[in-house]
Amino acid sequence: PKRIFSGIQPTGAIHLGNYLGAISQWVKMQNNNEDIILSVVDLHSMTLPHDPKQLSRNILQMTATLLGCGIDPQKVVLFQQSTVLEHTQLCWCLSCICTMPRLAHLPQYKEKSKDLKDIPLGLFVYPVLQAADILAYKATHVPVGEDQVQQIQLAQDLARMFNSRFGETFPIPHTVITGAEFARLRSLRDPLKKMSKSDPDPKSRICMTDSPDEIVRNIKKAVTDFTSEVTYDQEKRPGVSNLISIHSFVTNKTVDEICSEAVNITTGQYKLMVADAVVSYLKPIQDKIEQYSSDPGYLKDILQDGRDKARNICANNLAEVEYKLGLRVKV
Ligand code: TYM
Repeated sequence: PKRIFSGIQPTGAIHLGNYLGAISQWVKMQNNNEDIILSVVDLHSMTLPHDPKQLSRNILQMTATLLGCGIDPQKVVLFQQSTVLEHTQLCWCLSCICTMPRLAHLPQYKEKSKDLKDIPLGLFVYPVLQAADILAYKATHVPVGEDQVQQIQLAQDLARMFNSRFGETFPIPHTVITGAEFARLRSLRDPLKKMSKSDPDPKSRICMTDSPDEIVRNIKKAVTDFTSEVTYDQEKRPGVSNLISIHSFVTNKTVDEICSEAVNITTGQYKLMVADAVVSYLKPIQDKIEQYSSDPGYLKDILQDGRDKARNICANNLAEVEYKLGLRVKV
């Protein structure tokens, strides 16, 4: 049976990359009545030094954000990762079959550790916990942005290794990536980089909670190139093409429609059009996020309910893992 799992770190406001690349996909799958489990992966948000107060605020804020974006807790299982202990338990079991060189080669680890003097073990083990998230539910499909592909490959490898050593247990999870440019929305400041939460320059991204003024300012300042026509070419014109992708998403128009409508205007004028479209697309979502944020009691109830449902699903799977590993002593 098909089962979808995905996760998102509770790191403050999400940006359009998270929304286009991941969350909007989840909403679509939910509306197709698929079996989908979503986790606010708080344990993944403490691999680098963090502020505990901020983290607990962010867990609720992310919950409000997901609901505001259209995630329906009646249809999906939505829960906080650390409340389901099976994740860390399976993480340990998988750590014992994963090797250190396999982790050391992962690009996100290399990227995040390169400027650190002391590297936390958690940062290194991060992808094993991610594999545990997925495998604890025997998930078959994992919808994510392109930056997660290598980490899901690790989950696939660990599933295969576990199966071959201890007997068929986990399905091999497929990575599901959205089409076009949405799987890797680019930074507004440097279109060769992805839009990222950790970019120190807030002008590099559009956050779901940005005010209209901020959105207009950031899109106006988006780095493009020296050609003034509006044409789509991801390779040669990554900056404008990124704006066209965003525009196409928020208006539901094709890239061709957009370019033919914009034949007579400059990229400068075009930016204002994109900004307007983004502002009006985000407005109702922002209102809903704000509404949900004002009701922390409700958010906690949702997460608690989600935790119970998540546990119900993964407890059996962990019992099977324990059995296969020889941890269940029979007398
Ligand atoms: P996170 O919290 O960094 O990002 C959440 C989702 O947003 C996608 N994304 C993007 N998509 C398109 N363009 C971009 N510029 C962009 N930036 C981010 C990410 O690909 C992701 O799908 N390790 C994960 C969280 C995680 C997880 C899991 C995911 C933990 N366990 C199990 C799937 C399955 C992460 O840090 O995502």
